[in-house]
Parts: sequence; C-alpha cells; structure tokens
Amino acid sequence: MPTSRRGSGTTTLPSGQTLAFHTRTQDEEDLPHATKKTMADHLRKYESLFTLTPQRMRMIVEAFKDTLELGLEKNGQIVPMIPTYVFGWPSGDERGEFLAVDLGGTNLRVCLVTLQGEGKFEITQSKYRLSEEQKQEEGQKLFDFCAECLKTFIDQHIGEEPGMINLKEGETLPLGFTFSYPCSQQRIDHGELIRWTKGFGNPNTEGHDVAAMFRQSLAKHDVPANLISLICDTTGTLIASHYVNPKTKIGCIFGTGCNAAYMEKVSNITKIKELQIDENAEIAINCEYGAFDSFHHEHLPRTKFDTIVDETSNKPGEQSFEKLVSGRYLGEIMRLVILELIDDGVLFLGQNTYKLEVPYAFDTAFLSLMESDPTDELLMIIGIFTHFFAVETTLAERQFFRALAKLIGRRAARLSACGIAAIVSKMGYLEEGCAVGADGSLYNKYPGFADRIHEGLVDVFGDKGRSIVTYHAEDGSGVGSAIIAAMTKARKDAGLYVQV
Ligand code: BGC
Repeated sequence: MPTSRRGSGTTTLPSGQTLAFHTRTQDEEDLPHATKKTMADHLRKYESLFTLTPQRMRMIVEAFKDTLELGLEKNGQIVPMIPTYVFGWPSGDERGEFLAVDLGGTNLRVCLVTLQGEGKFEITQSKYRLSEEQKQEEGQKLFDFCAECLKTFIDQHIGEEPGMINLKEGETLPLGFTFSYPCSQQRIDHGELIRWTKGFGNPNTEGHDVAAMFRQSLAKHDVPANLISLICDTTGTLIASHYVNPKTKIGCIFGTGCNAAYMEKVSNITKIKELQIDENAEIAINCEYGAFDSFHHEHLPRTKFDTIVDETSNKPGEQSFEKLVSGRYLGEIMRLVILELIDDGVLFLGQNTYKLEVPYAFDTAFLSLMESDPTDELLMIIGIFTHFFAVETTLAERQFFRALAKLIGRRAARLSACGIAAIVSKMGYLEEGCAVGADGSLYNKYPGFADRIHEGLVDVFGDKGRSIVTYHAEDGSGVGSAIIAAMTKARKDAGLYVQV
C-alpha cells in the first residue's frame, strides 16, 4: 500500500480484508503519531471510565431522590431545595410591562417584556458579554454594572410607540431580577447568596442579600425600576414554559451550569412549617441540584480528570454534579484526557503543545463541533487542532477525539437524565407522564443531547421513561422573570402572604 495518498477510498488487502483510506498530509508523515490500534486501545480504557450503566444510573437516582427529600426537610443541606415563594402556576392571563435583568453566567441581559395575556408576550432585549475580570471584581461593582446597563437600556427605549417604554416623570417600572446562583430566600424579593458557582468569585457577595445590593446600585444610578422578585433561571424556565405549555412540570437548565425547578406542595416542605402557609398551596422549588454529591463524593462516578477539574477550580469540593454535567467543564475534562496522553508520549510527540496546556483552553463548543463533523476526513477536527492549538492530527487521532467527545457528552446527558429522573420519581410523575422545559447551551446546541437524555430516562425507568419528554423551553430568565414579577405583584396586591 502507498504510504501517502490524496483522496479517500478502499483497498483490498492480500488477506481479503477491506481497508478504508483517507487523505494524509506530508506533515503527518514527518511526525511520530500513534497508530490506529494504540488509539483504539486507549479509547477502550476511557470507555470504561466514562460509561454509565443503567444499573449505576438507577443507584444514582435513588441517592439523588433521598438528597432532594432531605433538602425539603431541613435547612442548610448540600442540595438546598430553596422555596422560591412563587405560588403555583401562572394563569396565562398575566399582563403588563416588566423589566427583567438576567445575570446568568456568560452574559448579562436586560429585557423589556410586555405580557399580553393568553400566553402571549413581546420582548425587546440587549445582551452584554461579561469579562472574566468582571466575574472576580467587588460584588457591588458587578451590580453597579448591571444597573448601568439597565439605565442605558431604559434611556434607549423610552417612547410612546409599541415595544417602547412609556414612562411618566417619577414613575418606576416593575423589575424581575434573574440571578442564577444559589440564594436562600426569606421572601421573594430577597436572596442571600449561598455560594458563587460557574467560576464567579466576586468578593463581599457570598452571605449578603444580593437583592439589597442590586437595589443599592439601582438607586445610585437613578434607575426607575422597582425590584419585585428575585429568581433563578430554572424557576423562570418552569413558569415561562408552563405559561405556554401547561403540561410542564419541571424546568431545567443544561448550560454553563445545571439545575432544575419544580412545583411542590407546601405540606411537603417541612422546613417552612413555621410560616403557616396553607398546606395545600404550592410553591416552586429551586433545587440547586448542581450541588448533589458535593464534598462527600459518595455517589457519582468521578474519574481522575473530574477530580482535577474540581481541585483546580475556584470552589474545590462544591457543585460536584455540575462539574460532571455542565458546559463550563466538559471541554476542560476533554483537555485533561488529551494532556494525559501527551504526557504518556502517545499524542503529538515532537510537536509544541503549549496551547493545549492552558486551563480551560478547550471550549465545550469544540466537543459539539467534533461530534457533528460530517466529513470522512474529520476536517472540522483538523481545523480545531491546527487553528486553535497549532498541532497536526492523523485520522486515527481525530476519530479518537470524536469518540472521546462522545463519551464525555453522553455521560453528561445521562447524568442529566438522573437529575430529572430523581424529581420524576420523588413526585410520582411517571404514570401520568410530564413535559420538561429545558434550556441552556448544552441542551440547545450539543448534537443529540436531548436524545441521550431521553435514552437515559428509558434506561432508568424502562419503557415508561418515554412518558417524560423534554422540550426546548421558553425564555425563563427574561419572560419567566416578568411573569413571576406579574404574579408576585398580583399576589401582594391581593394581600396574600405579603410577608414572603
Ligand atoms: C446555579 C443555578 C443555576 C444553574 C444554571 C448553577 O451553577 O447555581 O442557580 O440555575 O447554574 O444556570
């Protein structure tokens, strides 16, 4: 067989076997590369590390379910199961103009939402990318930035026409604040930050009431907005999705972080008994289940790469489930596997790999792109490695990378299924089935993520798992936040549980 060829095709070996061949470049021949067999052997090793059997999944779901129950019983649990004081489902008839500020992880978004009733709405919005520095600066400065952006947005949108803000002198607009980090809440317009997640580390914020901090910034910048409700993205997703699809019982985010919310009967939330809320009322629970298995690491199948991700993070020990599942970490897990193979002399011998050695240099979007590369040659993967990391790859290596991305992405989706399954099983939703509104970059952009979640649900529940169906949610952090502000305003105007 010739050692270098252009194009692709097949050839028959003297043994009778058929071998596929693909274009190779001159560069590849000059560099020592791992053989196809070596790569296949390595893949097998990682397969056993990253594969979750249905039996293991069922064990995780059981432990997960117990953890959720414990969080409802007692304060201060690892998975805090936060009562949000969002009482029941929206009627669909909420109306009016609301501002929403969404501080989520990657971007800051400010929105004007006009709720038109009958499940209809209009939204105008602006997005601002948050820099890495902004995620570490003084907490109050971050809220000042949010207030400044909101002020600019309002100034740009004041006007009489539809879609504009019609604001008279001295008036304020109701504001829903979506702050997607775990906060314990004494009332809906209060939230004490338990811990930063998703790489944020702004000092002087943990342990403080972030609603009060934001109000201070709004006042400082003369923003005509009145903060009515503080929610997290999952609660918004739950409510916004139910607003348009009343079969929805769970709202989930699979993005930079991961989490879920659902509606719980007050009689089951033992830890808020003293508030004397009607036992038959319902309150949305923000599970904050990204924290599942934190600190003790008893239940999740963590590989040595997960341990490194955890130990080198700004929050070692915390958000253990999230670190295996969410978009912030999947690229880093893959990079660490590649580094191991570089250190073992398997990959990129004789090439300069310094660009791969930078923490978080390997974006989770690369895993999506690798999995969806439609070419035989895996040209997308060639592009990623040459363009971003200045290293040459052979086809065998590229096939390995694609298979590795698949293992990491699939494990994330199957663990995501375990989180959903824990809520389904706890709430007994399996028989009647339920819709799950899901959002976030992984869910929306990672090829096959939703299918793998569904497959996972069948592995956990058998055929009945098919009755749990995820779908692309409504915009929870914008529209959901506005609906919740509207519900809260109506509740308080009616004098219902005004203290929360
Ligand atoms: C946060 C949650 C949030 C989730 C998805 C997690 O890191 O703690 O509040 O819902 O990310 O954005």
